[in-house]
Amino acid sequence: MGRVAELAGVSVRTLHHYDDIGLVRPSARTAAGYRAYSADDVQRLREVLAYRRLGFGLREIAELVGDPAADAVAHLRRLRGLLLERRDRVDATVAAIDRELAARGRGLRVTPEQQLEMLGARLYDVIGGAYTATRRTDPRIATRIWDALGDARTVVNVGAGTGSYEPVGRDVTAVEPSAVMRGQRPAGSARCVAAAAESLPFADGSFDAAMAVSTVHHWKDPLAGLREMRRVARRVVVLTFDTDEPGWQDRFWLTRDYLPEFADVLDGFPSLAGMADAIGARTEPVPVPWDCADGLFEAYWRRPEAYLREPVRRAMSVWTRVGPHAERRAVRHLGDDLASGRWAARNGDLTALASADLGLRLLIA
Ligand SMILES: C[S@@+](CC[C@H](N)C(=O)[O-])C[C@H]1O[C@@H](n2cnc3c(N)ncnc32)[C@H](O)[C@@H]1O
Repeated sequence: MGRVAELAGVSVRTLHHYDDIGLVRPSARTAAGYRAYSADDVQRLREVLAYRRLGFGLREIAELVGDPAADAVAHLRRLRGLLLERRDRVDATVAAIDRELAARGRGLRVTPEQQLEMLGARLYDVIGGAYTATRRTDPRIATRIWDALGDARTVVNVGAGTGSYEPVGRDVTAVEPSAVMRGQRPAGSARCVAAAAESLPFADGSFDAAMAVSTVHHWKDPLAGLREMRRVARRVVVLTFDTDEPGWQDRFWLTRDYLPEFADVLDGFPSLAGMADAIGARTEPVPVPWDCADGLFEAYWRRPEAYLREPVRRAMSVWTRVGPHAERRAVRHLGDDLASGRWAARNGDLTALASADLGLRLLIA
């Protein structure tokens, strides 16, 4: 054990701990009858230590190395992908630091999003802890997604988060890059792979269908991610957002009257037509029910007081992206207008509607 510890660069205590919790058990015996590491044990130890170095928790590692479908080559591929991603993030951090230095040099203000970028942090590793307070499957939106999946038996859910909208009764594999989000998946939910949409660790045509819900606008390269979905699955179902229509910002009173900065958040996001084109999809509107159970940005269009509540806002990435200044202003103005009756005077007609088309679209290919 001492020799293995020395070679692996860990303490004997660590090896004992891994043995105690059943993560890496020395299964061979020395001539003198002592327990020793076989070649397979060493390979497993190497995988455990590599995942550990990448920041995975022991429970997650146990799941990863215990996966009977993953052999040594699959682990090497996955580790390689994770390391390349880490290298990209370091490069991106250096670039972000350079940009911030240049901006500060010119006396410009640095937005919170730029500051997060500098940390090299994934947005959902920073804000994901607040997600489950209000984000869950809305049954009506789910029906639309599940109908679009057709008779698919194997489904990959990309940008899966905490598992909302994952269909039951099908064989689901989740893909989620944020450790914070993966850590909040309920016990017994679908197996979850740490990866990003832009580089899915699956062979061509591995699944009957690929789905992605409320996530494409977070991807570094949405079109590349969509093409990856197309590559690994015969059917693709994506819930996303339409910014093609001129004046789309005015569809929703919150962006129109209180948070025009929302448009900047989606700056550079591909057009709906472009995304549909990339995968050969048709598009269908998905109205938001007035009592939508999933606390997404548009969910409370008929319940405006909800936006005054901090936990509601913290589960919507938009507010972090626009920054505290815009957030405080929007909330103050909305609060004032609700108290004065101005909001009701402008939007009173909404109370008669059971659902509203606020730009959510299903892409089906
Ligand atoms: C708003 S959540 C949606 C989660 C889930 N699909 C749902 O409907 O609740 C967006 C998710 O996209 C993930 N994400 C961000 N960048 C990603 C990428 N490049 N590839 C895949 N997922 C990504 C985030 O970590 C986050 O969990």
